[in-house]
Amino acid sequence: MATHKLLLLPGDGIGPEVMREVEKLVRWFNARGLGFETETDLVGGAAYDAHKVSISEDAMKRAQAADAVLFGAVGGAKWDNVPYAVRPEAGLLRLRKDLGLFANLRPAICYPALADSSSLKREVVEGLDIMIVRELTGGVYFGEPKELVTLEDGSQRAVDTQLYTTGEIERITRVAFDLAKKRRNKVSSAEKSNVMKTGVLWRQVVSKIHKAEFADVQLEHVLADNCAMQLVRNPKQFDVIVTDNLFGDILSDIAAMLTGSLGMLPSASLGAVDPVTGSRKALYEPVHGSAPDIAGKGLANPLAMIGSFGMALRYSFGLLDEADLLDKATANVLASGTRTKDIAPPGTNAVGTQELGDAIVKELNALS
Ligand code: NAD
Ligand code: IPM
Ligand code: MN
Repeated sequence: MATHKLLLLPGDGIGPEVMREVEKLVRWFNARGLGFETETDLVGGAAYDAHKVSISEDAMKRAQAADAVLFGAVGGAKWDNVPYAVRPEAGLLRLRKDLGLFANLRPAICYPALADSSSLKREVVEGLDIMIVRELTGGVYFGEPKELVTLEDGSQRAVDTQLYTTGEIERITRVAFDLAKKRRNKVSSAEKSNVMKTGVLWRQVVSKIHKAEFADVQLEHVLADNCAMQLVRNPKQFDVIVTDNLFGDILSDIAAMLTGSLGMLPSASLGAVDPVTGSRKALYEPVHGSAPDIAGKGLANPLAMIGSFGMALRYSFGLLDEADLLDKATANVLASGTRTKDIAPPGTNAVGTQELGDAIVKELNALS
């Protein structure tokens, strides 16, 4: 039996709460013959408390050696004043950079049962299925210089650098077009070429790759601010949206609300395919954060984390039937009315994190 090595990094706040529900699923699949081997380590504030770093060298080695990393969430007020380089979020950024996870896939799907859970009208979101492809290892997150300096007069100056190279844009563009070919054949590329040089380069490179390699796919260029507006005006016009690191961060939080809740949005962060082994480094993470306002209360929606595990089944292990089964179980549980508070209709009884996880396991049993 093939073994699948998973590194679990639950992190902070609701991270460990939602990761526990994925561990139930790992046990369920293992009981049916799949060979997942899990290790768990610290990341974020939890790692800082234990080791004064946001991720230890040992955990980085384990992440490099794993077939896939499952990541919960990091951050919280407790670590607001720790040195910038070891903030909880730095652990996640290091994982992305050191593992070369340049392609972040953030699918926003509105489950039929949740068409009334969005803050937008049912007809705007019903049937929604879009994919945001976010560049994840470049742009203003990583460009140098990045500094906050005190000047001679005592005032301060802060700099972040938005930086992209042709190669970085080419590879994320190819990921977007490849995905679109398996979907509805349309790519919308979002940048701000009207004010940013990186936007000018982005538009040029996307157009070049389109013309040379994917001319049969529909391409549109859209300014990122307009894209944000269009996402709430008429999101179903989109199929695949490809965009840079910062715009992708913001646009995906907007897209999350089209599905009913930020607690619904999973993601896959993928590296390049190794030409020799055919495998790629991968980390699966919900789009949401550590949700300090609800942490420790058993209220968190585990579906973004569960959906991220589903993406691991699909993208890292080629377990497509198992991924489909998990999606079906999720859809059925939602249709049955079992919901956490963030997606429950006002005035109805919501379940907690663990009950929703248990309901998914029960439905998997019923379906198999
Ligand atoms: P957040 O995503 O943690 O929470 C935003 C809002 O969404 C909150 O009201 C929260 O209760 C709600 N929410 C989020 N996930 C939910 C879930 N699964 N179920 C139900 N409700 C959910 O964003 P924030 O409050 O701006 O950030 C809190 C901390 O998380 C910060 O330190 C931030 O840096 C960090 N963060 C981490 C990640 C990550 O680890 N990938 C992502 C985003 C933010
Ligand atoms: C996300 C988060 C992260 C980001 C933070 C925690 C570094 O907001 O994954 O969306 O900005 O990329
Ligand atoms: Mn974000």
